[in-house]
Amino acid sequence: MSHHVSPLQKARANYQPKLPKVFASSGPNVVASAGAPTQSVADAEAIQKLFPNSYGLPVITFEAGAGTATKALSVGVILSGGQAPGGHNVIAGLYDGLKKLSPASELYGFLGGPGGLVDNEYVKFDDVHIAAYRNTGGFDIIGSGRTKLEKEDQFAKVIENCKKLGITGLVVVGGDDSNTNACMLAEYCAREKTGVSVVGCPKTIDGDLKNEWIEASFGFDTASKVYGELIGNIQRDANSAKKYWHFIKLMGRSASHIALEAALQTHPNVALISEEVEAKQLTLRSIVQSIATVVKTRSKAGKNFGVVLVPEGLIEFIPELKIMISELNDAMSDAYFNSLKDDDDKHQFIAKKLSAPSAQAFSTLPHDIQRQLMMDRDPHGNVQVSRIESEKLLIDLVGDLLNEWKANGDFKGKFSAQNHFFGYEGRCAAPSNFDADYCYGLGYTAAALLGAGKTGYLSSVRNLTKSADSWVAGGIPLTMMMNLERRHGKDKPVIKKALVELDGKPFQTFAAKREGWAVNDDYHYPGPIQYFGPSEVCDRPTETILLERS
Ligand code: FBP
Repeated sequence: MSHHVSPLQKARANYQPKLPKVFASSGPNVVASAGAPTQSVADAEAIQKLFPNSYGLPVITFEAGAGTATKALSVGVILSGGQAPGGHNVIAGLYDGLKKLSPASELYGFLGGPGGLVDNEYVKFDDVHIAAYRNTGGFDIIGSGRTKLEKEDQFAKVIENCKKLGITGLVVVGGDDSNTNACMLAEYCAREKTGVSVVGCPKTIDGDLKNEWIEASFGFDTASKVYGELIGNIQRDANSAKKYWHFIKLMGRSASHIALEAALQTHPNVALISEEVEAKQLTLRSIVQSIATVVKTRSKAGKNFGVVLVPEGLIEFIPELKIMISELNDAMSDAYFNSLKDDDDKHQFIAKKLSAPSAQAFSTLPHDIQRQLMMDRDPHGNVQVSRIESEKLLIDLVGDLLNEWKANGDFKGKFSAQNHFFGYEGRCAAPSNFDADYCYGLGYTAAALLGAGKTGYLSSVRNLTKSADSWVAGGIPLTMMMNLERRHGKDKPVIKKALVELDGKPFQTFAAKREGWAVNDDYHYPGPIQYFGPSEVCDRPTETILLERS
C-alpha cells in the first residue's frame, strides 16, 4: 500500500474493532460447546449421502473458559468472488486470533482467489503487512477471483500445496457458491484424511447468504449504506430541480435485498422487488404500466420527477424473460453459435433456436438489450446481469407507453429520465463500524474454530442487532445450509440462497409504505457513513436486520 494515505485512512487505521465478549479475556482459546447433531435444511438423505464424513455436525457456540488449543497453527486464507467491504478485517481478525493462540502461528494469503490456492501463489503475512490494511475496504491485500474450486484434481493440488507449506487450516471467505465448494473441500479432506481443516466466512454485498443462524453476510451493511447515501442525494436533486425521473439499478445478482434495504432507507417513489415480480408473475408490460401510472399520477400533481429503484437481477425474475434467458443460455452453449463472428448471424441462429413466445419476447427488446443478452456468460453459465442495462430498458418502455397515453390525451405531463447503476461504488467502501467489527469477529472466530480443531463450519457471529459485546461467536455446519438444486440439468448440493421473503418484516414494512412514497415526497436522506461520532449514527445496523431480528 502507498505511504500516502488519506487523513481518514490514517485515523481509521487506529480503530480497534469490537470483539464478541467471549474472546475478551482468554482470546480465541475458549470452550467450544457443541449442540445436538444437525440436519440439512432440505433433502437430508441425499445430502448425507454426498457428505458422509462431514454431515450432521453440531452447532458450535464459544463459551468463556479455557480451551485445549496450545500449539501454533499454519493457516491459509482466500478471498473469493465479488469484493465486499470488510474482507481485510476478516484477514486481520484471523491473523490476530491465530497469533493469540500462539505467537508462532502463521498465516498465508493465496493470491487472486481460489485460483491462487490451486496454483500455489501466496504471500506470508506479518504485522506490518496486516497493519496497512486494517479497517480498509477492498480485497486488494491478496485479490479475489471467481475460479470454481470443485474438482477432485483441484482439491488434490490444494492439499499438495498445503503440505508444502505445513498448512493445516484453510479459510474460504466467500458467498454461497464458494462456501458450497468449501464444504466439498472439507468433505474431501475428511475422506482422504489430509489433516487439513476448512472453515468458511459469509461474504457478499448481495446479502443472500443468510439463514436462521447466519444473520447477515458481511459487506451488505456498508454497500447498502453507500447506495443509500447516493440515492438520498439524487432524491434531493430530483426534488430541487423537479425535472427528472431517475432510474437507478442496484447490484444484487439475484436477490433484491440491496434494493429493498435501499428503499427502506430512502423511501423512493418506486422500488421493484424481483421476488415479488416472480411470485405475482408480473410481465414486463405490467411492470412498465405500473411505473408509468406513478409517473402519470405525480404529473397530475405537477411533479414531473421521481426516483425508481431497479434490482439488478430483475430481468431473470420476469416470467417470460426468465424462460427466454434460459433458452438463450442453451442456444449460446452450442459450439456452432460460438464459432459465429457476425452479430447478424448470431441473431439468426438464436431466432431459430428460441420457442415462439421467447422469440417474440426477444424481438420486442431494444437492440442494445438484445446485444447485452448475447454477451459472454460468467463461469457458472449465468447471464452477467450487472452488464444488462435494465434501467435503460425500463426508461425506454415507460417512455413509449407514456407517448401512447399522450397521443390519446391520457398523459399531459413530461417524462425526462436519467439512468444510473450503483454497484461498484459500494463494493470496496471503507467498512462501516458494523462491518469492521463483524468482519474482525468473523476472522477471529475462524481462528478459534481452527484452534478447536473444527472443520466443515461457517464462522458465525450472532445477535448482531445488539451492541458488539453481546455478540455470540461460534460455528455453523456447512452441510446444515445445503439442499439440492437443479443446475445444468443435474441435481447439485448447494448452500440455499436466501431471497427476499415476501412475508418477512422488511418486505411487509416496505409494502405497507410504498403507495404513500409513490405520490408524496417522503424522501429520506441517510447521508454518508459516519465512522466517528455518536453511536446511534455510527453503529446503526441495516433496516433489514433490525426488522428481521427485533
Ligand atoms: P458475490 O456474490 O461474489 O459477492 O458478488 C456480488 C456482486 O457484486 C453482484 O452484486 C454482481 O452481480 C456481481 O458481483 C458482479 O460481479 P463482476 O464484477 O465479477 O461481474
